[in-house]
Amino acid sequence: MSAWTKVGNTNDFASNMGGCVKVNNKQIAVFNFKKNDSWFAVQNECPHKQQMVLSRGIMGDLEGAPKVACPLHKHAFCLKTGKHLSDGDISDLTIYPIKVENDEVFLRVD
Ligand code: FES
Repeated sequence: MSAWTKVGNTNDFASNMGGCVKVNNKQIAVFNFKKNDSWFAVQNECPHKQQMVLSRGIMGDLEGAPKVACPLHKHAFCLKTGKHLSDGDISDLTIYPIKVENDEVFLRVD
């Protein structure tokens, strides 16, 4: 099992927006959902057209569950599960364990 990697401090990430970090040569989109102060990490690559853009996506919620919509063609994904929420046959996102301790943000990326 991989170790936790520090990717920044909480104030390095704007609320209700994404931020991109690189761990083990993978681009990861990190989101701080301010509504209930929860944090999520998913692959930065949108599976629709393989663009590294999800960290610049638009956050929202679907019946209380946080989601992100890709800034290019608006396909939406659940940030909790990675599930693709829009129409069309598009892969779900890989999600990564994330935790915050003492205002430091950590990811676990295999
Ligand atoms: S590249 Fe993300 S929806 Fe098209």
